[in-house]
Amino acid sequence: MDSALLEYTGKTAAVIGGGVVGASWAALFAAHGLQVVISDPDPDIERKAMAMIAAAIPSLVALGHAPFDPAARIRFERDNGYAVADAFIVQECGPERPGFKQAVWELIEASAPADALLCSSSSGLPASLQQTEMHDQTRLIIAHPFNPVHLMPLVELVPSPTTDPAVIARAVAFYDALGKVTRVIRKEIPGFVANRLQAAIFRECVSLVRNGVVTVEELDDIVTTSVGVRWATAGPFLSLHLGGDAGGLPESVERLGPLVERLWASLGTPRLDEQTKALILLQADDSYGAWSIADLTATRDAKEVAVINALAEPLVPVVR
Ligand SMILES: NC(=O)c1ccc[n+]([C@@H]2O[C@H](COP(=O)([O-])OP(=O)(O)OC[C@H]3O[C@@H](n4cnc5c(N)ncnc54)[C@H](O)[C@@H]3O)[C@@H](O)[C@H]2O)c1
Repeated sequence: MDSALLEYTGKTAAVIGGGVVGASWAALFAAHGLQVVISDPDPDIERKAMAMIAAAIPSLVALGHAPFDPAARIRFERDNGYAVADAFIVQECGPERPGFKQAVWELIEASAPADALLCSSSSGLPASLQQTEMHDQTRLIIAHPFNPVHLMPLVELVPSPTTDPAVIARAVAFYDALGKVTRVIRKEIPGFVANRLQAAIFRECVSLVRNGVVTVEELDDIVTTSVGVRWATAGPFLSLHLGGDAGGLPESVERLGPLVERLWASLGTPRLDEQTKALILLQADDSYGAWSIADLTATRDAKEVAVINALAEPLVPVVR
């Protein structure tokens, strides 16, 4: 057990929904030595979730975790109420439907300890919408991970306007202790922040392919060898600060501002209509159709681990 997580020793983390995201959270929690219970009505969930967890372990080990036996730390409990009965945290990872989230939080509030942290992994359903059937509307917070959850550092914490500041502080402390990078989002907004950025960029990606400017493969290469590297090391604002020589951000904004505004005005607003989807799928198949998704995922995960580990290294001071 990591020292930052010692207060949770012997306690249970409940994962509601053992699909892609739930299994990945469970792998990460177990890697940190927590006891985990997964609750999911799928009769085949144990086989499916354990396969995903086993596939996650090599990446977790490459990130510095000790190898572990998932069966010793992860159990399954079909009944959501029993699953959360002694949980110190409930990580909800069920279907992305308002009705499901509202009903499940009503049940969890009635079944979990009164001081359990209640966190939803939702990609887009805000806490204020999910908590409508809860008696205490100060308890819920969105803890939105980025896929693959066991690797990606970011957790966006999105409180509702009624979430207790003490709940926000406890959530920050818990995910920080898991080694995540937490950022508290100051307003509820559709898609939160990271997915809004992805959607904005993806809109232009589709437009560029649709207009024949580049192919799917060329676009992927352009991103991974330019903004992908740049933004993994310095965010968009810091990158601009470093793009104007000694003048920094003020000079960059002055110099590039008019150009950026002209480009904004020319950005595409494509539709994902049948013709566009067919074009993208055809080109994507040309690019990587010969590879299995499992092989592509393993390759991507290995590269992501390399990037995450490289970025975690202490910086060597640059002396001029
Ligand atoms: N997939 C992603 O990239 C991603 C990333 C971040 C957040 N999220 C969010 O995480 C949540 C789960 O997404 P996912 O991709 O893992 O979906 P998924 O479809 O892979 O998994 C959902 C699981 O919920 C289970 N389920 C259905 N009813 C249930 C119930 N009553 N109790 C418990 N479990 C139940 C299903 O059997 C399934 O195994 C969603 O809210 C989604 O928005 C997804």
